[in-house]
Amino acid sequence: MVGRIIVENAGTAVRASPAVSILNTLMQNGIGIAHVCGGKAICGTCRIKIVSGGESLSPLSEAESIRLTAMGNPPDTRLACQTYTAGEVRIRIPSLRRAPLPRSRPHPPGLLP
Ligand code: FES
Repeated sequence: MVGRIIVENAGTAVRASPAVSILNTLMQNGIGIAHVCGGKAICGTCRIKIVSGGESLSPLSEAESIRLTAMGNPPDTRLACQTYTAGEVRIRIPSLRRAPLPRSRPHPPGLLP
């Protein structure tokens, strides 16, 4: 099944696979998003705001839950490195960069399948 990620503040949409994290999907499509810890649910810099379609996202992992709790549980926020979708989701990226960040290689999957 193929999903779609609409990035509101980048004015673009990309195809998504349930086997690839949202972080890796964005990076593979040249969308610059911060990811300081390399996808380990430690830094929180890859957080995304879920505008709609949250029901199509993978459930919170324990690592993601711990990080979001430490960040004060911002409403409608997920970590792109820990989140997968097979449906359509509309997001905003607080750390959006107009040009891809230097570290643009995909990371291995996080704690979720
Ligand atoms: S890249 Fe650090 S928490 Fe996602």
